[in-house]
Amino acid sequence: MSDRVGVRRAAPDDLDALVDLFVAVVEEGRWLGAQAPVDRDHQRERFLDEVTSTERASLVAVVGDELVGHARVDLAPYRVAGLGMMVAADWRGRGVGSALVLAAIDAAKELGAHKLALQVWPHNDAARRLYLRHGFVEEGTLRRHYPRRNGELWDAVVMGLVFDETSPGSPY
Ligand SMILES: CC(C)(COP(=O)(O)OP(=O)(O)OC[C@H]1O[C@@H](n2cnc3c(N)ncnc32)[C@H](O)[C@@H]1OP(=O)(O)O)[C@@H](O)C(=O)NCCC(=O)NCCS
Repeated sequence: MSDRVGVRRAAPDDLDALVDLFVAVVEEGRWLGAQAPVDRDHQRERFLDEVTSTERASLVAVVGDELVGHARVDLAPYRVAGLGMMVAADWRGRGVGSALVLAAIDAAKELGAHKLALQVWPHNDAARRLYLRHGFVEEGTLRRHYPRRNGELWDAVVMGLVFDETSPGSPY
């Protein structure tokens, strides 16, 4: 199945499909930091900014004409790239996420990052397994870190993939 999946840079023509995908995944309520209801216009602006920025890479996974996944790579001023991604529920478990992670790693290196990092909910077994399979390491847990609209405080697992293992570390 994964050989049918293509990954390419997102374009302004993808904005409607990107917003639809984001709304659907947010409405699942358990995977992303964002919470429903989504302000579609605001989100469209955010995707437009992402698609046109030189500090970010916006990637889409496509099968034929269907947009089935998205990954965003943002470069921080300290040259760590952040990764966020999502795959349409009907397409999970078929290698789409893997194709996006590989493309995101390439994009992060092209942006000049020395590391790619992300945060994931502890219960997100599919995501944690996907990242581990691609060389990410679990660096720790942020305890009771993110407030949810219902008053809950969720932990988050910090994961990272270091590209530069040769520059010196701190001497102290
Ligand atoms: C996380 C996500 C992007 C993975 O995408 P995907 O297309 O399913 O990824 P792949 O098919 O390439 O790989 C998924 C891996 O998780 C495994 N997996 C799937 N469901 C699982 C589960 N419930 N428990 C453990 N592993 C699971 C698959 O077996 C596969 O691992 P393997 O190849 O070693 O067997 C996708 O599940 C998703 O979009 N989830 C909702 C949004 C989200 O969680 N985004 C990430 C936020 S950090």
